[in-house]
Amino acid sequence: MKHIDSAPSTPGKFKMEKSPYNNRLRLQSSIAKLTFWSFVFLGLIFVFFFRSSSSPSSSSSPVSSDLSRRSLRTSSYDGPNFEKRVRASSKIRSRNGISVLVTGAAGFVGTHVSAALKRRGDGVLGLDSFNNYYDPSLKKARQALLENSGVYIVEGDINDVALLRKLFDIVPFTHVMHLAAQAGVRYAMENPSSYVHSNIAGLVNLLEVCKSANPQPAIVWASSSSVYGLNTKVPFSERDRTDQPASLYAATKKAGEEIAHTYNHIYGLSLTGLRFFTVYGPWGRPDMAYFFFTKDILKGKSIPIFEAANHGTVARDFTYIDDIVKGCLGALDTAEKSTGSGGKKKGPAQLRVYNLGNTSPVPVSDLVSILERLLKVKAKRMIMKLPRNGDVQFTHANISLAQRELGYKPTTDLQTGLKKFVRWYLSYYVDGKKSSQ
Ligand SMILES: NC(=O)c1ccc[n+]([C@@H]2O[C@H](COP(=O)([O-])OP(=O)(O)OC[C@H]3O[C@@H](n4cnc5c(N)ncnc54)[C@H](O)[C@@H]3O)[C@@H](O)[C@H]2O)c1
Ligand SMILES: *[C@@H]1O[C@H](CO)[C@@H](O)[C@H](O)[C@H]1NC(C)=O
Repeated sequence: MKHIDSAPSTPGKFKMEKSPYNNRLRLQSSIAKLTFWSFVFLGLIFVFFFRSSSSPSSSSSPVSSDLSRRSLRTSSYDGPNFEKRVRASSKIRSRNGISVLVTGAAGFVGTHVSAALKRRGDGVLGLDSFNNYYDPSLKKARQALLENSGVYIVEGDINDVALLRKLFDIVPFTHVMHLAAQAGVRYAMENPSSYVHSNIAGLVNLLEVCKSANPQPAIVWASSSSVYGLNTKVPFSERDRTDQPASLYAATKKAGEEIAHTYNHIYGLSLTGLRFFTVYGPWGRPDMAYFFFTKDILKGKSIPIFEAANHGTVARDFTYIDDIVKGCLGALDTAEKSTGSGGKKKGPAQLRVYNLGNTSPVPVSDLVSILERLLKVKAKRMIMKLPRNGDVQFTHANISLAQRELGYKPTTDLQTGLKKFVRWYLSYYVDGKKSSQ
């Protein structure tokens, strides 16, 4: 208090005891004190707001801490409002419905799966770090879309064990749909640790929390067709070898499959891995070829079309998002319960892996021709040699296992699917005047 007493804002304080103007001075002094404490109080409020609006997770990925994101945050993890939102979003509204924690819910596949689950009356809670691997405003727009249908996305990292535990404390999720990951093949040369962070450390963290949860949820998660790596035997079947990854991305997905085996074996977690084959569609990922080809064709920019050795065609088994969503729901609906409890295995549990593809590979040059027709703009093609930095020459799924066991049956060909993508792209970026960067 010393420093206040001598502050210029409280004149006369020294003489107060012996002053004939005792009362007046006392009044002045209490006004000064009141002013001071008001400032302290306002200061505390300020500090509180500042702290609660910054990221509560110190372990969250460094790429995800831009300021625009922070200012959009409305609640902290501890408020009663937070729990209320989590509960409301996870509430099951149909008979025999399930409650699903969807990681990567602001991502391309996560948004579509979350919306589909919500539509049929399941409880859905999203979790996403909103990292800036690609334009986070697209993730925010997907979040707004989900918010409208009653799905809340918690902003956080799958490496945040305390947060994950808290979510399981609030809701006894029956299922986890794990789609959060560092995707992309070429970006691994720029930022390899982001793949380790999300696809390996993050997966282990998530499985640790799942194995301790009571009841343990069943887990369906996204692996990738890239695990087939340098294989040349087509179509790719689940039993084919997956020990020759051509990228760090593929290697982390393969590691995920082995980690899944371990948690199934030791703790009785029910685990289903889905090997997606080049998923495309509305609200898709800007880092994928069909997406930035569209952008660049419209801009009149030339687009690189890769060619393998001896003019070999590069082809992909493009799979439309709605078909992938059906495969994901099929996997959730056929997943058996985990068998462990209290971190101990009680009996054998289900362990599965499925291809989710379209079974008809299309050369990338045909993809470009379809886009030219849909956009009514001629593309400037630039034929280039396929660099050896992760991309494989072709992918082709054998889906008979998923067909038999999940009832998976893709129905959308590339022409039809791209038409829907282009319609969305034009309305979002051109009519909606969103910047495509
Ligand atoms: N789209 C495809 O063609 C394809 C093909 C094969 C496999 N996959 C896999 O499918 C899943 C979904 O892919 P997508 O295309 O929707 O990708 P996406 O990048 O759009 O979605 C992933 C989401 O996860 C979030 N995320 C990343 N790391 C996180 C972390 N540590 N904690 C919390 N959130 C995190 C991201 O912010 C993003 O919103 C991924 O596992 C991906 O590897 C996708
Ligand atoms: C597809 O996979 C199944 C196993 O699910 C296998 O029996 C079948 O031979 C495979 N087909 C081809 C053409 O490789």
